[in-house]
Amino acid sequence: MSDEYKILSNGVKIPIIGFGTYKLGSHEDSIEAVKEAIKIGYRHIDAAAFYNNEEAVGIGIKESKINREEIFLTTKLWNDNHGYEKTMKSFNESINRLGVEYLDLYLVHWPNKLNLETWRAFEDLYNQGKVKSIGVCNFKEGHIEDLKKSAKIIPMVNQIEIHPYRSQKNMISYCKENNIQVIAWGPIMRGKIFSDAVMLELADKYNRSVPQITLKWHIQNGVIPIPKSSNIERIKENLNIFDFEISYEDMKLIDQLNKNENVSSVPENTTYLEY
Ligand SMILES: NC(=O)c1ccc[n+]([C@@H]2O[C@H](COP(=O)([O-])OP(=O)(O)OC[C@H]3O[C@@H](n4cnc5c(N)ncnc54)[C@H](OP(=O)(O)O)[C@@H]3O)[C@@H](O)[C@H]2O)c1
Repeated sequence: MSDEYKILSNGVKIPIIGFGTYKLGSHEDSIEAVKEAIKIGYRHIDAAAFYNNEEAVGIGIKESKINREEIFLTTKLWNDNHGYEKTMKSFNESINRLGVEYLDLYLVHWPNKLNLETWRAFEDLYNQGKVKSIGVCNFKEGHIEDLKKSAKIIPMVNQIEIHPYRSQKNMISYCKENNIQVIAWGPIMRGKIFSDAVMLELADKYNRSVPQITLKWHIQNGVIPIPKSSNIERIKENLNIFDFEISYEDMKLIDQLNKNENVSSVPENTTYLEY
């Protein structure tokens, strides 16, 4: 278990590793995975309306018997629900399905031509105390710069695809300059990184698995990974990374693996990606 956290630009604490919930399995399997993850020690759960399992995530949290206040809970607004009114409605539906009074983090799932209107709703939800922090996902610099022109609140988080084959160093630097915390989705590249020769060598050197080396690389880069697993042993394995350090030279070796490779394609109904 790790009780380490980062502090967002508004002072909110966010645990430095989270639990991903995309494709956890059946309703029952999803409840079980979330409950077990919390029992094992995760305190940061990454949900989304799109994953169609907010209800199961909420039950898993309740059944873990850990106080709601001790869990950092995120969910996301899906692409069909941009715009002020739709965002408000979609937010209420999400918290009802999750069975919670507030969110720790509400994220825009993908950029959209209605970003500015949507963001106004996010700011209102924040000012009303219904969400403790607000952010975006999959935003490029241009999207954030556009938002900054009219936003009263700068996003506290940008959740983007990062793994050794897509290390996103420029985006990480940009976010750092703007006091935006980066969260990595697809942090272990959905397994595609496991057969990489350099990663296998490092796993051998540190006597750890490739997922463990990869997750530690994220954390040492100041990025919060949110690995998903439906398997209890792998859920444990992914958290068991707080008793070793990757050397500076080996961090650089992993950095050199970048080839800007995506793990998945952009959803079809994402309409605003020209930046
Ligand atoms: N904002 C966005 O647009 C966005 C997009 C995608 C994902 N996300 C979020 O990010 C989370 C993580 O990303 P992801 O689920 O796409 O990919 P990921 O976490 O990189 O990889 C998950 C895959 O790796 C396997 N796995 C996990 N731990 C393992 C281990 N220790 N050894 C071997 N295999 C292991 C899992 O299988 P098993 O379950 O069988 O272990 C699963 O197939 C998601 O769940 C979601 O919460 C956000």
